[in-house]
Amino acid sequence: MRLIEGSPAARILAFGGYQPAKVVTNDDIAASGVDTSDEWIRSRVGIASRRIAGPDESLADMAAAAGGKALAASGLSAADIDLVIVATCTPEAPIPNTAATVATRLGILAPGAYDLNAACAGFCYALATASDAVRAGTARHVLVIGAEKLSQWVDWTDRSTCIIFADGAGAAVVGPVTDPQAGPGIGPVVWGSDGGMADKIAIADRNSFIVQEGQAVFRWATTALHPVARKACELAGVDPTELAAFVPHQANLRIIEAIARKIGAPQARVADDIVHAGNTSSASIPLALSRMIERGEIGSGEAVLLLGFGAGISYAAQVITVP
Ligand code: UT7
Repeated sequence: MRLIEGSPAARILAFGGYQPAKVVTNDDIAASGVDTSDEWIRSRVGIASRRIAGPDESLADMAAAAGGKALAASGLSAADIDLVIVATCTPEAPIPNTAATVATRLGILAPGAYDLNAACAGFCYALATASDAVRAGTARHVLVIGAEKLSQWVDWTDRSTCIIFADGAGAAVVGPVTDPQAGPGIGPVVWGSDGGMADKIAIADRNSFIVQEGQAVFRWATTALHPVARKACELAGVDPTELAAFVPHQANLRIIEAIARKIGAPQARVADDIVHAGNTSSASIPLALSRMIERGEIGSGEAVLLLGFGAGISYAAQVITVP
């Protein structure tokens, strides 16, 4: 038996993001009869508005829109992609998987294609497995997409969840590092999980909505995750003071700020996409990154720390280099 030769390292070539057109403000939710207020949501969660998919807008539509943008920005063609991974916890149905449908829509013929569910950590998990595939030689270029249509799993009368979750998609193209002078573009992942806390964020069955023990998740996120983030920096050989940005899952602005303080990277720009995007689970990190790049807030070659965390519970962190 022989093994195929991979690449010594992987990198991200480009990002792309997609948000549905419909903007739902906090006042819109209060006006629908939910006992809440703009002031409460802004101060406790940090959200001012979120985007919600239209009735005929599917998860695959959003995933394909984000994936198509990332592919176009990468300068590659559909024929160059040989693996498509869609991170999602809100598939339209258990089968068929979303990845194969999205690949066909984008004209990517016969790639490896699978969905991956690590909830809000999904994009970081998918990025790590894409990087490993490139390094092992099982794929040369991977389209990694985080996409969610959480609005279809939310009880729009439950104020503890309907103010938080939203829809959208973000994508990245991953490929080999071809310049022998360049370092790795995707650092080692630090990932983990604790099924003992599985009931803290859950959808019980196909007839149920999302429920979450907000305070328990808040406590866990603000106490257990900064060591994970710091470990990812250590494994990548990047001191937190060298980070250009910190892009954690956009769960709650207070959580984001608390973890950022504990990491010890005061110079790093901290993503706050949640303000106008809400919590889009596996889409939140690539959406935030594509917007920061579009606005010129982070530049090519800079080091950025990613940290995904949520249901499972599961978490993952890695340092990346901005394409
Ligand atoms: O993405 C996956 C990972 N998820 C997370 O990281 C979520 C983590 N948790 C959180 O972000 C926060 O716990 C929430 C945003 C979910 C809730 O914020 P909180 O500051 O923990 O509020 P709480 O649940 O402790 O509730 C405080 C009060 C309660 O009223 P009383 O009992 O003090 O009278 C709630 O009933 O706020 C009330 N409340 C609301 N009031 C107005 C809860 N939701 C609302 C609301 N509007 N939407």
